[in-house]
Amino acid sequence: MEANEVLSSFKELYGDEGTIRLFHSPGRVNLIGEHIDYNGGYVFPCALEFGTYGAVRARKDSKINLASTNFDLKVDVDLMDLSFKKEHDWANYPKGVIKIMQEAGYNLSGMDILISGNIPNGAGLSSSASLELLIGVMINELFNEGNIDRIELVKLGQKAENQYVGVNCGIMDQFAIGMGRKNKAVLLDCGTLNYEYADADLKEYSLVIMNTNKRRSLNESKYNERRAECDEALKILNKYKTINVLCDLTPEEFEIIKNHIASEKVKNRAEHAVYENQRVKDAVEALNKGDLISFGKLLTASHNSLRNLYEVTGDALDIIVEEALNSESCIGARMTGAGFGGCAIALVKKEKVEEFIENIGRNYYQRMGIAADFYLSGIGEGTCEVK
Ligand code: GLA
Repeated sequence: MEANEVLSSFKELYGDEGTIRLFHSPGRVNLIGEHIDYNGGYVFPCALEFGTYGAVRARKDSKINLASTNFDLKVDVDLMDLSFKKEHDWANYPKGVIKIMQEAGYNLSGMDILISGNIPNGAGLSSSASLELLIGVMINELFNEGNIDRIELVKLGQKAENQYVGVNCGIMDQFAIGMGRKNKAVLLDCGTLNYEYADADLKEYSLVIMNTNKRRSLNESKYNERRAECDEALKILNKYKTINVLCDLTPEEFEIIKNHIASEKVKNRAEHAVYENQRVKDAVEALNKGDLISFGKLLTASHNSLRNLYEVTGDALDIIVEEALNSESCIGARMTGAGFGGCAIALVKKEKVEEFIENIGRNYYQRMGIAADFYLSGIGEGTCEVK
């Protein structure tokens, strides 16, 4: 839905008295640096132009009315009872952020809220983090005079996901969405939260987002399993070199001590983390030099590592990336986000994009029996009020 439609739906649902405010929170893609935010590595994501709208009006009482144009389920709760309820489904995300902010001592009262999302669900473009930041920024603007630091809101969003929803995610998604800037990618050091904006000038190439439309199965349990394997690797390697996180190691340092890890699987996980971190640094350097060919090669190397060493890709992502790379107009492709289904990205010659989409769509359908979706999005602004 577009902004004005969201506002009119809000008025239809809740009436048009009082001050109604509208906010937008983007989705994100990660260009490179996958599964290393929780290993203290560098990530290089950017916010998208499409995301989640939220219209809101403050109430004088403590009631929270939650509705969405995407789902039939409406949920009414009271600020006194924001406990997680499975049957509240999507509404647990806003409830979680409200509860975490309440516990952190921020000002709050009741609200009428209408959400309208343009991010396909389960596509790995962070529809949940988008919703979390949307609610955080709303509460900041409505009740706290905009005084809450943006990075604090990012951390509160992650905390809601970790502690309330129960997904042990890193900080990347919330950071990219809360701190994103138009036409800039964010180079974030997840170990220190130091960050800088980078011009993501893709020159004669476009970024094509390819949705495999393969539902991400076992996503959460496998995600938490990978985190545990990395922790195990860290514990072993730490005996031979003092490090806080796996990404403290350079590839050279890793090579010297890696054979202390007896399990091939655990060694592979660590190897992915260490080398992926190096790839991010190399990718940013290549992009800054305008060397898109090298940048593209690093994207592909990242995918191969996620497939062979980290094992988070799966058939759908591997096939769509393989098909993309078979195309002459594509100079690099990889899965983006958590994996196990969801989206991949490809760097494609601008004038060939239409042809590319047609070919990859057809070939992917032939091999997987699923129709893929393709999105072309510029880099959008982080979460903000729509005036
Ligand atoms: C998900 C998580 C992020 C990050 C990515 C993988 O999107 O939410 O924190 O770990 O997976 O890079």
